[in-house]
Amino acid sequence: MTLILGLESSCDETAAALVDSERRVLAHRVAGQEAEHRPYGGVVPEIAARAHVDRLVPIIEDVLTEAGVSLADVDAIAATAGPGLIGGVMVGLVTGKALAHAAGKPLVAVNHLEGHALSPRLTDASLAFPYLLLLVSGGHCQLLLVRGVSNYRRLATTIDDAAGEAFDKTAKLLGLGYPGGPAVERVAAGGDPRGVALPRPLVGSSEPHFSFAGLKSAVARAAASGEHSVPDLAASFQQAVVDCLVDRTRIALAACPEASAFVVAGGVAANGAIRSALTGVAARFGKPFIAPPLWLCTDNGAMIAWAGAERLAAGLTDPLSIAARPRWPL
Ligand code: KG4
Ligand code: ZN
Repeated sequence: MTLILGLESSCDETAAALVDSERRVLAHRVAGQEAEHRPYGGVVPEIAARAHVDRLVPIIEDVLTEAGVSLADVDAIAATAGPGLIGGVMVGLVTGKALAHAAGKPLVAVNHLEGHALSPRLTDASLAFPYLLLLVSGGHCQLLLVRGVSNYRRLATTIDDAAGEAFDKTAKLLGLGYPGGPAVERVAAGGDPRGVALPRPLVGSSEPHFSFAGLKSAVARAAASGEHSVPDLAASFQQAVVDCLVDRTRIALAACPEASAFVVAGGVAANGAIRSALTGVAARFGKPFIAPPLWLCTDNGAMIAWAGAERLAAGLTDPLSIAARPRWPL
């Protein structure tokens, strides 16, 4: 049994967790920064980095206290080393390096995307490689065949905006505030998903890539026309995203008969309409549908700790000289 401390600071969540190789989450804490970024309608990198500096060490102390352990009991320190907003990534990584050095423990530099990709295995011990993963967050929109630790085949990525980014930008232009995803979903519940004719970029194309920039512009034009209510715009936008995700997932599932399951992760996986549509696609292909609990879908330290546990078990640790990376494809 190994015990891992995981640190996450790549966007606007400061998070730490203690997770062991038996899949027990001993403690986890996430501190959001919504209040700091709300006046700007989105995440301001400099403000995010400063907030991580203020919060990360107290959060680490909290999880150690809650779990009743000290650094001496930890087997490795796992920290997100990218991709993400570089100032924030550096705060988490250098904190991880300092703790690893001070306590004489190995450092595991975790790719944030690998954290999301492996997170379903933390709560589902039966989930076997390979599985198809749809990773839909504010920064990413990818379909990956997860073949093993450090072993991924990327089937699709976005050619412009990520799905969560599209939700956030749509929320901003509809005056729904930040963070956008939950606000759009809430308002969409009172609207007609067929009320506004919007494009479904790339739907029907044989390459399973994503594109959301054109959809967002179409919402902006429809909003500017003054002919539609905000709930109808929100509901129609959400339906268009659902249709794009479903269509692209269908192509990927058809291309990966070896996948043991279909898994969805990332903050956008919190969306009820998206979850239920994807459940239907998986069922049509006879694959189990796995969606980690919501707290594990959005950015958190437990997924980084778990990826650290999987990497440590595979003998993958990193030197203290490792650099933070703003871009780092899996
Ligand atoms: O995974 P995450 O916490 O951070 C990134 O790594 O990006 O995802 C955050 C994204 C944001 O774009 C947010 O608007 C979106 O997930 N999101 C949602 C919902 N909840 C969060 N999008 C649609 N519907 C939701 N209910
Ligand atoms: Zn994320």
